[in-house]
Amino acid sequence: MAEESRQRRRARPVVAIDGPTGAGKTTVARALAAALGFTHVNTGAMYRAFALAAAMRYTEADLAKGALGARLGALLNSISITLDGPRVMLNGRDVTDAIAAPAIADLASRLSALPAVRERMREWQRAAGRDGGIVMEGRDIGTVIFPDAEYKFYLTARDEVRARRRFAELAARGSDLSFGEVLAQLRERDARDSARALAPLKPAPDAVIIDASDLTVTQVVALMRARVEQASRP
Ligand code: DC
Repeated sequence: MAEESRQRRRARPVVAIDGPTGAGKTTVARALAAALGFTHVNTGAMYRAFALAAAMRYTEADLAKGALGARLGALLNSISITLDGPRVMLNGRDVTDAIAAPAIADLASRLSALPAVRERMREWQRAAGRDGGIVMEGRDIGTVIFPDAEYKFYLTARDEVRARRRFAELAARGSDLSFGEVLAQLRERDARDSARALAPLKPAPDAVIIDASDLTVTQVVALMRARVEQASRP
């Protein structure tokens, strides 16, 4: 019955993919969306683009004080963040490379704990997925943004595996962080994202949990695709 009323409300399903940093959500979500003919929305990229806007507007000292709450809400309302395939635009400028920096990821994680920020993001993300036909990835998609998503996955992997992936990505971009530093940063960010009061990182009770430590991207996508296509059969 619940399934039927969902089908009536949305012509096409919402697929939610949540999980900690470096588990491969973006690669998998993009490939799954392409296979299903759905739109891919990377909500982490939205938080990162906002963090970049905040870093350009305020000093690190002001941001660290944590007293900018309302002003950050106003800043978020005054900027435009758009996703153009894999490219991320902030006020019409391509910031895809700039938001890959670890400092921006860290600031995104800190600012994402603020209620004004989460509220505005929630509105945007719900509007983007209203008609379904979307694969949305993040930390709270299956728990808060679309608790009624037709398909929910929680993608994780061992810390070392995730850090190795992040280390390789950063090294390719010319970073000189050591593996140990990348691992420590990843653990710190996950701990913060999991411990916050609002929309913490955790699997939805009805999410399918996938440990990708020993799986390839192709295998993970095939697992998800099989779930979605099997359930969609009459
Ligand atoms: O997925 P990512 O690593 O690009 O996300 C950057 C930060 O943004 C992450 O550490 C926490 C925050 N975030 C969030 O709070 N909720 C989401 N749905 C997505 C990201």
